[in-house]
Amino acid sequence: MKNYDNVTIFSHPLINHKIAILRDEKTSMKEFRELVEEITTLMTFECLKEGVPTTEKEVKTPLETCTQYVVKDDSIVIVPILRAGLGMVNGIHVLFPSAKVGHIGLCRNEETLEPMEYYCKLPKDIEEKLVLVIDPMLATGGSACDAIDKLKQHGCKNIKFMAVIGAPEGVSRVAEAHPDVHIFVSTLDRCLNEHGYILPGLGDAGDRLFGTK
Ligand code: PRP
Ligand code: URA
Repeated sequence: MKNYDNVTIFSHPLINHKIAILRDEKTSMKEFRELVEEITTLMTFECLKEGVPTTEKEVKTPLETCTQYVVKDDSIVIVPILRAGLGMVNGIHVLFPSAKVGHIGLCRNEETLEPMEYYCKLPKDIEEKLVLVIDPMLATGGSACDAIDKLKQHGCKNIKFMAVIGAPEGVSRVAEAHPDVHIFVSTLDRCLNEHGYILPGLGDAGDRLFGTK
């Protein structure tokens, strides 16, 4: 895959360790859910290194008063792509419990692999916020592109996208369609199979999170 300025692929031993367990077909639904949350929290730490609205605050320590930078209240909105994106929400909420959540429901047509929208509910003032779009799987990139298009139509200007596993095809597609959106992928896999599944991947993330199929 080409190098893109707006793409960060993590190569962190702790994340890789957790992804190895996540991929394992024997990993239980409970452990799978916990791992997705933990990986999301680790990714969020890096994802929010830049571009987070902060404000000055006076803090009185036992010794003196100092000026600190804190994350502005109500400045981050989480947007999971339903359904599998829901599995990542708590991983960010542990860091920012007050972040509002918008939902975009997209389902890939199994034959065309094109996403179809079935739900959208976004916080009223989302256009002024830092929007974190989350989905564990970035396969063809169709779902991510549609979700980001939708948010831009709503006026969002500060968008970041996070996925646990990405395929080169999907990462390139989103990086090129949305050069202003930084894409964070914890690991880059080899390719897609003929059904649009990521190889080696982890199977269907939604099914493994919610015990369907
Ligand atoms: C999966 C996944 C992504 C999408 C990725 O969702 O969670 O949203 O596929 O594929 P793409 O990059 O080719 O668009 P799916 O449509 O299976 O729905 P689900 O989350 O309800 O399982
Ligand atoms: N969606 C998934 O859940 N898994 C894949 O490998 C591709 C799309």
